Amino acid sequence: MKKIITLLLALAAIANVASAKDYVLSTPNTSLILSAETGKTLYFRYYGSKASASEIRATGRMLRYDAYPVFGTACDRPYAALIKQHDGDNAAKLVVEKIIEEKRSGNTIQLSVLLRDVAHPTLVVKVNYFAYEDCDIIKMNTEYINEGKKPIVLQKYMSAVLPIQSDNCVLLHLDGSTKNEYNEVVEPLTSGVRTISSQSGSRTAIFHNAAFMLGLDGRLDERNCPVIAGALSWMGNFHFEFYNTLQARVPTLFMGGINPAASDYTLAAKSSLTTPEMIFTYATDGKGEATRTFHRWARKHQILDGEKQREILLNSWEGVHFDISETSMVDMTRDFAALGGEMFVVDDGWFGEKYPRDNAKTSLGDWNHAPGKLPRGVQPLIDMAHSNGMKFGIWIEPEMVNVKSELYEKHPDWVLRHPDFEPSYGRGGGQLLLDLTNPKVQDHVFGVVDNLLTKYPEIYYIKWDNNMTMNNASSLYLPKELQSNLTVDFTLALEKILKRIREKYPHVVIQLCASGGGRLNYGYMPYFQEMWTSDQTDAYHRVLIQWGALNFFPANMLAAHVGSAFSKYTQRHIPIKYRFDVASMCRLGMEMVPASMNDSERAYAKRAIAAYKEIRPVVQQGDLYRLVSPYEGLRDFTSLMYVSESKEQAVVFVYRHIVKHDMSNIILRLQGLNPDAKYMIREVAPEVEGKPVKLDGKVVSGRVLMQEGVVIPELVKTYSQNRSHGEMRLSNDYRSVVLSLTEVK
Ligand code: DGJ
Repeated sequence: MKKIITLLLALAAIANVASAKDYVLSTPNTSLILSAETGKTLYFRYYGSKASASEIRATGRMLRYDAYPVFGTACDRPYAALIKQHDGDNAAKLVVEKIIEEKRSGNTIQLSVLLRDVAHPTLVVKVNYFAYEDCDIIKMNTEYINEGKKPIVLQKYMSAVLPIQSDNCVLLHLDGSTKNEYNEVVEPLTSGVRTISSQSGSRTAIFHNAAFMLGLDGRLDERNCPVIAGALSWMGNFHFEFYNTLQARVPTLFMGGINPAASDYTLAAKSSLTTPEMIFTYATDGKGEATRTFHRWARKHQILDGEKQREILLNSWEGVHFDISETSMVDMTRDFAALGGEMFVVDDGWFGEKYPRDNAKTSLGDWNHAPGKLPRGVQPLIDMAHSNGMKFGIWIEPEMVNVKSELYEKHPDWVLRHPDFEPSYGRGGGQLLLDLTNPKVQDHVFGVVDNLLTKYPEIYYIKWDNNMTMNNASSLYLPKELQSNLTVDFTLALEKILKRIREKYPHVVIQLCASGGGRLNYGYMPYFQEMWTSDQTDAYHRVLIQWGALNFFPANMLAAHVGSAFSKYTQRHIPIKYRFDVASMCRLGMEMVPASMNDSERAYAKRAIAAYKEIRPVVQQGDLYRLVSPYEGLRDFTSLMYVSESKEQAVVFVYRHIVKHDMSNIILRLQGLNPDAKYMIREVAPEVEGKPVKLDGKVVSGRVLMQEGVVIPELVKTYSQNRSHGEMRLSNDYRSVVLSLTEVK
């Protein structure tokens, strides 16, 4: 009898499956398949190469797993949502109510499914899938809608769930800290749950980054292997969960979204919460392809002015720190203009009327010029930049206040802190984060930018810094019962402020900075044209940092500056050519006092800046191909290249870090070129003017360059004439060569 019942149930299940409809969402080369039937669970079936449902069914690659598992129906395995009803019930069963297939404007097709809870029908969860027609990108998010008359509490509310048919995944993610950002970490995804998350509240990429790659066939190679990459577009705390089990019925699962830690979210009656978008790509040609898809999509669809050229700038910070004066700024501006620079940016230290900003202990919040430092205000600096044919930019940290400031004296209740105990102070011992959930604070932060741009309309660029995490996660504005909404509401408030700024100032260039690269995330891209990659001034260290960041973030939004020869952070000396060549792999700038260079360095800087202008379109808009990784074992070399979309131009960067006696030549097999085209090779900004490497001037086909590669013997010499290069060369370590390739028609 029992057997017959089991058989009947199985037949019923098959009948259900058969009556469910498949929904296929495709990009040019990938597909995602769901199956849905009204009144039933929504199933995730497939994400991978472009295919029809029948092909995937025929190959046995069709999965059948809850597309959005929730606590209640998925209690014994990872769930994406845990929702506490007003009566305390925390179980839910979500079933399909409606499938909305709609073509949206622009390049995306959207498929949304409305799921309603069987036990509490006033709870609706809308899961959204967006596919791009011009890029292999699929986005996912969810909307929580409380149609009831009482609030509910979201205890876990992930944006996306991605079941993956592989039990042999390799994970790549980024880990680091200030001046040591984005170390590339690669590890096998072993059995159990692997989480990567952030709890820092306001600069949430400071340790871990909300982006990952998964190699699906037990390896994560640059080419020829299937890879899924993902990134969360969210300025707040994030949470990634990778669940890997040997149970046959549960695939490897990825879930990503807002970090629910200490963030139970009270959703008021008749209100909704839209969770941030998770961005995915699927690549068959390795992580190289995954990176290129992310870069192209980001430039085209996510970064503000992502296809516009970025200027070469000098920032005052590493040169003079807080020691700002009209004379020092004017000198730097003039000296940088003489090198061919395009913009001068005054960093921290220019403000504070009552309390001049002489160090990190005072003045944040008081955004008027310090009369003792700039007696005539900021305008003469702008005029000086303009009279030298350059643009002008300025630093602010608008979300912050120092206890020693006029702002704090007026509004001590505008900060994040607990009312009953002493807050923990940030940088300088007196810094606090403003409470962005307070609408008056929102007006203030908007006003910092608005007042500055109203007073000085010729400001072209703003550096928006943030040097404090949310150590005091208590709001004096939110009522007690909504304290755990803080991390989410703070992030939503920041987004609201940024939207308001962009409505009034759509194209003022704003760089995002957070003690270096502590905010590198896709969520900021619609508001900021670029991000400061790191405060690390050691160019070798920056190779590792920039390489890590470039996995997910394109070169035109990563600011990279040439510092002085001696890095105080690592105590290493690095020659000027290598420093320029490293910064030139992203958006080039300088961060030192130009007058501190000797004559040969200055002459080289001038040539390197002129050369960057030539290669800039390819670096800033080209496709990235990684040739030799600095993370792979103990390599003496690192190499990467950019190729223009038309494949008519390319730029190859080669860095030799540490010299060894009798080094072997390295064969660099180039990538991404047109095999049938012939390319003229030129060395970009050779170390000694007029003495390029032997490859310079050679014409070689793309096919040979890719199949046989090139050797640059000059880079392996250990004894080159140190003295003939004047004082430019400090040792034989840290040598580099940059080649440009132009198609010869
Ligand atoms: C931290 C940033 O990362 C630096 O570039 C600089 O702007 C300082 N803040 C200024 O205080």
